Amino acid sequence: MDVLVVDHPLAQSRLTAMRNTESDSGAFRAALHELTTMLVYEAARSFAVEAYPIETPVAPTMGTRLANPPLIVPVLRAGLGMADSALALLPESSMGFVGLARDEKTFEPRAYMESLPGDLSGLPVLVLDPMLATGGSLVHCCRLLVERGCTDVAVCCVLAAPEGIERLRASGTVRHLVTASIDEGLNDKKYIVPGLGDAGDRQFGGM
Ligand code: PRP
Ligand code: URA
Repeated sequence: MDVLVVDHPLAQSRLTAMRNTESDSGAFRAALHELTTMLVYEAARSFAVEAYPIETPVAPTMGTRLANPPLIVPVLRAGLGMADSALALLPESSMGFVGLARDEKTFEPRAYMESLPGDLSGLPVLVLDPMLATGGSLVHCCRLLVERGCTDVAVCCVLAAPEGIERLRASGTVRHLVTASIDEGLNDKKYIVPGLGDAGDRQFGGM
């Protein structure tokens, strides 16, 4: 698994807005939308393209397009806030959904929804989840994809903890990970430090 940290100044300013407790949910969601555009833009560097003939107003020439637009899979809830930005950059893509909630005592994910095509062989998948903490949630999601035949999984997340990166790498399910920061680690409640808090609650309010 290769790991890309997007340390562009515009990405880091959106990340700062997301970390800041003074940002209300509207400001948090706006920063997440914009940051997702930058993360997906970088993730798409590895996508295959194909040439096809077009005509400009002046002359015929060759253009390019994505050879195989990925299935976009936001991990609910928090990944929902990344879905629109990804689909805006990848308008030919379809979308699947995986719903996971982390158990507050065991910190393991509890699955409550899967809406994915049965056969993912030959189709690249782009997974969206702002937080890679212990890695339990993303490993669960990516295993669902591999079980359906997917061999080309890329993940975009806002923050990653070193523990989560290692667990995701060890799962062998992901080719590319794109993130805006690798933070210091996890606290005793398995929150990312310094992190940004609960990404779902900060977007949508507490449950
Ligand atoms: C958050 C986040 C990830 C997960 C990360 O979701 O969006 O899915 O925690 O933690 P992990 O790497 O330790 O598994 P959460 O379970 O809080 O649900 P939510 O998106 O509904 O808030
Ligand atoms: N889930 C979150 O939303 N935030 C964390 O820091 C860890 C898991």
